[in-house]
Amino acid sequence: MRLAIYPGSFDPITNGHLDIIGRASRIFDRLTVAVAHNSAKRGLFTVNERVELIRESVRAIGNVEVSTFEGLLIDYASDSGALAIVRGLRAVTDFDYEYAMHQMNSEMSPEIETMFLVASKEFSYLSSTIVKEFARYGRPVDNFTPPAVSEALLKKFGH
Ligand code: PNS
Repeated sequence: MRLAIYPGSFDPITNGHLDIIGRASRIFDRLTVAVAHNSAKRGLFTVNERVELIRESVRAIGNVEVSTFEGLLIDYASDSGALAIVRGLRAVTDFDYEYAMHQMNSEMSPEIETMFLVASKEFSYLSSTIVKEFARYGRPVDNFTPPAVSEALLKKFGH
């Protein structure tokens, strides 16, 4: 059973994340989308809300499950018996951070690969931060997020 972890903040999940999930789920037998608890960063959505929005959005994909983790990603990946950590790469601006994260994680547990999937062209500029910013000021974001997220953003911002 080849398991991979797709970790992130997912505050909230976007169509860009969904694209990576769909592609990674075809490479591995099982994919766990893992929402990080980050006490230093208060999000728009609670971790539970994010999990629910992801669950709703990946329902059609059979081999994907959604979970949360606290502490170090590499410990979580190791404890889960994962073969790989999957990360999406959009532009070169992502690279430095992703490279550092990969180096550090592979120092700690060299048997766990980090696998980068390059974002599809149509999602290369998309981020949760940008989506939230547009939704906050009442712009529809239906083209950029799964329906459950567009709805949840509308509710959050009261538009
Ligand atoms: O969606 P994001 O915010 O880019 O995801 C970043 C995330 C959650 C994957 C990263 O911050 C992380 O792994 N956090 C857990 C703590 C950890 O392992 N930190 C060391 C990374 S080298």
